[in-house]
Amino acid sequence: MALRPYIVGNWKMNGTRATLAEARAIDRAAARHPAVEVALAPPFTLVMAMAEAVQEIAVGGQDCHAKPSGAFTGDVAAAQLADAGARFAIVGHSERRTLHGEGDGLVRAKAEAALAEGLGVIVCVGETEAERDAGQAEAVVASQLAGSLPGAEAGVERVSVAYEPVWAIGTGRVPSLDDVGAMHRAIRAHLAAAYGAAGAGVRILYGGSVNAANALELLGADEVSGALVGGASLTAESFSAIIAAAAQRVEG
Ligand code: 13P
Repeated sequence: MALRPYIVGNWKMNGTRATLAEARAIDRAAARHPAVEVALAPPFTLVMAMAEAVQEIAVGGQDCHAKPSGAFTGDVAAAQLADAGARFAIVGHSERRTLHGEGDGLVRAKAEAALAEGLGVIVCVGETEAERDAGQAEAVVASQLAGSLPGAEAGVERVSVAYEPVWAIGTGRVPSLDDVGAMHRAIRAHLAAAYGAAGAGVRILYGGSVNAANALELLGADEVSGALVGGASLTAESFSAIIAAAAQRVEG
């Protein structure tokens, strides 16, 4: 793996203060594998407590608002995330695109807001099953990237992309390694076109049903520089195995 692997857990709408014990155990696992960069994105309610509970791993938000402040009931600004101890934000997750109607332009604005506050950003893209069946997967992802990647001047070195095929999320189904590699190569080419030489340093994470049993294989696919993990990031037992798989990929 050419870039330092980045293993990120997205806890989605799971976790309470009782779950911080898992985060501490994940933090200890991360300390055993310094070659791997590990992060967790808990619900907003846990960002501050988790950031205080861990040492090795970064804590981030699962979303942020595009505006710095204002009358936006229920939303959280990037500056507020940073103030709570977050170091990055996920934007454009398919659950937000679908369930909250977020389009590419809004995702890009959120990414740029996060970067402007000094946060890292993980921009999520991915096709639906119908789009893949129609042979449109690469075109859909290219269009999402064109619309939602932050501008080149915004801080490319803090940008990561997560490729999460919607049909693989929470289903136990994953694309073939060939399909993962083909999509990640296409994303790499897009990043080079968008960002020039800096595009080579952007990590491209695979997400969708990554678990302890398939992580080593998925992390070996072409241009995969990490994983965005949902369900299997909720316990230290399964997430630590994924961190260890990433370490094995680096250390050989
Ligand atoms: P699962 O790992 O549960 O499939 O979720 C993937 C995901 O959506 C991470 O953002």
